[in-house]
Amino acid sequence: MFSSSTLLYPLSLFLSLSLLFLLSPHILLSSSRNNLLSTADELDDLSLFHRAALSSSNTRRLISLSHTPPPPPKIAFLFLTNSDLTFLPLWETFFQGHEHLYNAYIHADPSSTISPLLSSSSSINAKLIPSKKTARASPSLISAERRLIARAILDDPNNLYFALVSQHCVPLHSFPYIHNHLSNSHRSFVEILSDEPFLPNRYNARGFDALMPEIPYQDFRVGSQFFVLAKRHALIVIQERKLWRKFRLPCVDAESCYPEEHYFPTLLSLEDPQGCSPFTLTRVNWTGSVDGHPHTYGASEVSPQLIRMLRRSNSSLDYFFARKFSPESLQPLMEIADDVIFRD
Ligand SMILES: *[C@@H]1O[C@H](CO)[C@@H](O)[C@H](O)[C@H]1NC(C)=O
Ligand SMILES: *[C@@H]1O[C@H](CO)[C@@H](O)[C@H](O)[C@H]1NC(C)=O
Repeated sequence: MFSSSTLLYPLSLFLSLSLLFLLSPHILLSSSRNNLLSTADELDDLSLFHRAALSSSNTRRLISLSHTPPPPPKIAFLFLTNSDLTFLPLWETFFQGHEHLYNAYIHADPSSTISPLLSSSSSINAKLIPSKKTARASPSLISAERRLIARAILDDPNNLYFALVSQHCVPLHSFPYIHNHLSNSHRSFVEILSDEPFLPNRYNARGFDALMPEIPYQDFRVGSQFFVLAKRHALIVIQERKLWRKFRLPCVDAESCYPEEHYFPTLLSLEDPQGCSPFTLTRVNWTGSVDGHPHTYGASEVSPQLIRMLRRSNSSLDYFFARKFSPESLQPLMEIADDVIFRD
């Protein structure tokens, strides 16, 4: 009895440990917040991206056969959110009267409280797209952004500009101002930085040299998450596979790893640096930032002077949007909307 149980115990321990060892990659992957994408999710996304690219090439063929002048371009507003849209009333005022020139899409984290009724009850008529889980410091935000782009391409062939915004963003100019400047630019606006002080840490955030050989250090770029893409770049982004295989790797250094701030700038600076303005159109205040979060403007800070100051940019264009604003700042922003924000 004694001898057999002493033998059995190490044996069962050995068996369970080896079982754990066999299964551990799956357990680790599925529990880590870094890797929220299952293979099924990836395949789902791939098929969506494929359909979007195909529909766009079919549309191009039809347009080249038709003799009527093309309709004016639409801007697709891509709302990426994990909470309710606090600033919806301000956006409704912004969009009012321009229904033929925009579409709005929402990717809301499945855990968020956003109401499925939003699309029907709000005048902006936003489409809530099928979403998957998202988290900071994980490639899940890249996937969500690509999903938004693909849905917008599929939904309306006249979506020619794709503007990413979050629930903390507010407009700084009127809709016609933004529409005119974008339709005359024919470019994308993606911040592309190569001289950021923490660039080496960010490059190695998935493990030392983990991005090699596809992305040598000298090709690596970073920039703001918030972009406006022209359609030709939106199509590149949803069809790209090589860089994605690297940028989808889980982060080992979460402090330096904001994959969505790496993937888009690196990809577009490799593919078409001349076709991109290396500036973002979304103003953010990093002075006194806490834990990777920028300064959040409170209600008492909102004033006409603040709006005018936030618009000022080093690029040839003013900033179009700004973040972040606290929920309480909605009221004072609404009060100055017509006289300041939407007066250009
Ligand atoms: C940026 O935020 C700081 C507080 O962190 C504030 O003092 C400063 O005025 C803000 N700058 C702008 C341009 O709003
Ligand atoms: C413009 O560039 C200067 C010099 O690099 C910088 O100090 C300033 O903060 C920039 N202004 C804005 C609005 O980004």
